[in-house]
Amino acid sequence: MSGVDDEFPQPDGLHYLNHAAIAPWPRRTAWAVTAFAERNLCTGARDYPEWLLVEQRLRERLQRLLNAPSCADIALVKNTSEALSFVAFGLDWRPGDQVLISDEEFPSNRVVWEALNSRGVEVLQVSLKGVDPEGSLLAACGPRTRLIAISAVQYASGLRLDVQRLGHGCRARGVLLCVDAIQQLGALPFDVQGCDCAFAMADGHKWMLGPEGLGVFYCRSDLREGLALHEYGWHMLENPGDYNRSDWRPAPSARRFECGSPNMLGTMALDASLSLLEEVGMHRVGQALEDRVQALLDGLPGIPGMRLHSALNPLRRAGIVTFSLDGQDTARLFEYLKGHQVVCAKRGAGIRLSPHFYTTPRVIEGTLTLLHAFAKS
Ligand SMILES: Cc1ncc(COP(=O)(O)O)c(C=O)c1O
Repeated sequence: MSGVDDEFPQPDGLHYLNHAAIAPWPRRTAWAVTAFAERNLCTGARDYPEWLLVEQRLRERLQRLLNAPSCADIALVKNTSEALSFVAFGLDWRPGDQVLISDEEFPSNRVVWEALNSRGVEVLQVSLKGVDPEGSLLAACGPRTRLIAISAVQYASGLRLDVQRLGHGCRARGVLLCVDAIQQLGALPFDVQGCDCAFAMADGHKWMLGPEGLGVFYCRSDLREGLALHEYGWHMLENPGDYNRSDWRPAPSARRFECGSPNMLGTMALDASLSLLEEVGMHRVGQALEDRVQALLDGLPGIPGMRLHSALNPLRRAGIVTFSLDGQDTARLFEYLKGHQVVCAKRGAGIRLSPHFYTTPRVIEGTLTLLHAFAKS
């Protein structure tokens, strides 16, 4: 994509198709981290008030990316799992309450709910295999269902759900919708108001092109105070700088979920990464990613033994294409690809390829050529 090639100076032979795992940083992110290191080296935290402005800018970028009503709805968290835990251990469960998840969730969005078993909460797994996965989830809601926790895009198959339909269905049933958005945010537009979800969370190191260790937690404002807190410290307070004060209250904003000192290094990096996505625009990012995924889907069927595990319908996918080759050992194929500098993942029963909006035709064509050569060998 013109204008951004310079941001991703990956070596010629490298085929980076692993954004659904951990993305490379853009050049500007590497620069932001280097500049931050230099400032720490030379003047320490002397200019901390300036850093707080970057943190505020990051919150605003995340608010726009999620289309959250306000910055006050955004908490900066360690990762998706932490945010999921805030929800799971913050809600006032009653014995017999039910949580619905799918049978394809990444462990983060399964174990956190199963960990509520001791409180009498039941977790039901719903299959997404049918033609109408949203219909299956909504049909599984019963009088005891309190919450549906679902990935917007499944990590292995890449199946994308219609979260808007789910959100409206949940609201009609009085059920909370919690969306693990890590496989969509930064890949395709995502809208917490459009999908009417109660909670959404994502880490920055995949499609948002940031580092590990800094993620976002959106909590709908009317639910914020009802979520019991389990981490306490100075930073989450209404008056965080007033160290001499003996009375305290959690901040009314989502900062209440940020107990202590922020991840300022991660903030510098993620702010820079998101500035790139904003410059390109999420609509263009999504369109360019769709083109790359389509190029893979056009080329893969020509490879002998090809079995696609991902949907062909563009509305049912985001940035993930997973496949296996009949008669070929997936572990051996994975090693072969690794040996030829194709960075991808072994997920589910196949190989997962995940380009991003900037992925060049050379990377896609080179990978397809390597796959042809493997299938013939
Ligand atoms: C759907 C999904 N949720 C969560 C995670 C990871 O969560 P965390 O940010 O806690 O590492 C992944 C990582 O692959 C994922 O694919």
